[in-house]
Amino acid sequence: MRVMVTGGFGVNGAWVVRELLGRGHEVSVFESRDDTSLVEDVAGEVELVVGDIREAGQLAGAVSRLRPECIVHLAAVVECERDPYAAISVNVGGTANVCAAATAAGVKRVVHTSSKAVYAPATGQRGFPVYEPISEDDDLRPTGMYGITKVAAENVLEWYGRNSAVECVSLRFATVIGPGKLQRHAGPVNTYSSMIELPASGRPFTMEHGGDERDGVIYVLDVADAIARVALAPEPLRHHAYNVASGSTVSISEFADAIRGIIPGAVLDVGSGTNPMNMPDPYYMALDGARMEEEFGWRPRYDLDRAIRHYYDLVTSRPS
Ligand SMILES: NC(=O)c1ccc[n+]([C@@H]2O[C@H](COP(=O)([O-])OP(=O)(O)OC[C@H]3O[C@@H](n4cnc5c(N)ncnc54)[C@H](O)[C@@H]3O)[C@@H](O)[C@H]2O)c1
Repeated sequence: MRVMVTGGFGVNGAWVVRELLGRGHEVSVFESRDDTSLVEDVAGEVELVVGDIREAGQLAGAVSRLRPECIVHLAAVVECERDPYAAISVNVGGTANVCAAATAAGVKRVVHTSSKAVYAPATGQRGFPVYEPISEDDDLRPTGMYGITKVAAENVLEWYGRNSAVECVSLRFATVIGPGKLQRHAGPVNTYSSMIELPASGRPFTMEHGGDERDGVIYVLDVADAIARVALAPEPLRHHAYNVASGSTVSISEFADAIRGIIPGAVLDVGSGTNPMNMPDPYYMALDGARMEEEFGWRPRYDLDRAIRHYYDLVTSRPS
């Protein structure tokens, strides 16, 4: 199958590209920059179009020329509070351009990467200390701009799904861990990456508070597997949204303990309490992943120890 991946050179996109190539598919990448630092091993195997998803004509031209059967849409802005207008134009306007280009070119399916942020803030039973698993049919009332843009983008996709021949679906990821986040994402979202990458390079990790907070985390290779299964599924999809999550949670203290067990001499000083990332609203939660398992047979292949070990091997250049 021919698949176009928007944002295919990013933290998640890099593994989506590898997963699709590994399964024998023809991959093109639509990216705003030709920074191949996260995909050096496979960059030569994809057709790259450098462009901006906000430019409808540019995107439509690439889609009509490359004729993908599926578009996996990852290009987005993750830090949205500083410049909300830019975030809306990329995450919502860009998604509308993807849908319009897909419709015009007869693309069969668009797979959009959404987020647990659509369920935030995780207050009451959804948050500390209960973390009741959240299913896809639960309420979406995000207060942060990132979650707001993801819900709006999902609504745009749903409209195209109802009113065009393109099948549109959104995958809502739990907190993703994987190499590249430190380089690509500043601020609190790279907490888990810092916890692994600082000790991996012999540096200490310190967190004043937050060790008791739990969250659902998922390894980036499992994200890529989930995306590939949905993108390549031969049957029509039964839903417009799927959580991609293990269903369980891990506390920051447990995460630190797991790292200490894997990285020799790791120094992690983690204080107790909640809200390790100092988020304005509770952002830590458990997603119910049953729908993905039932329909696609997908379960995470990387438990916490295996994910940390693989991540550590990657950043210390000792691939397992
Ligand atoms: N990393 C996570 O924890 C996480 C969790 C849930 C959902 N997601 C979603 O997964 C997707 C990918 O996330 P990521 O962590 O890989 O992000 P990333 O920033 O590493 O990758 C995004 C890529 O999109 C490209 N891009 C950005 N704006 C563009 C534009 N206007 N036109 C063309 N390309 C553009 C960037 O160059 C970048 O390579 C995003 O949609 C994100 O919201 C990520």
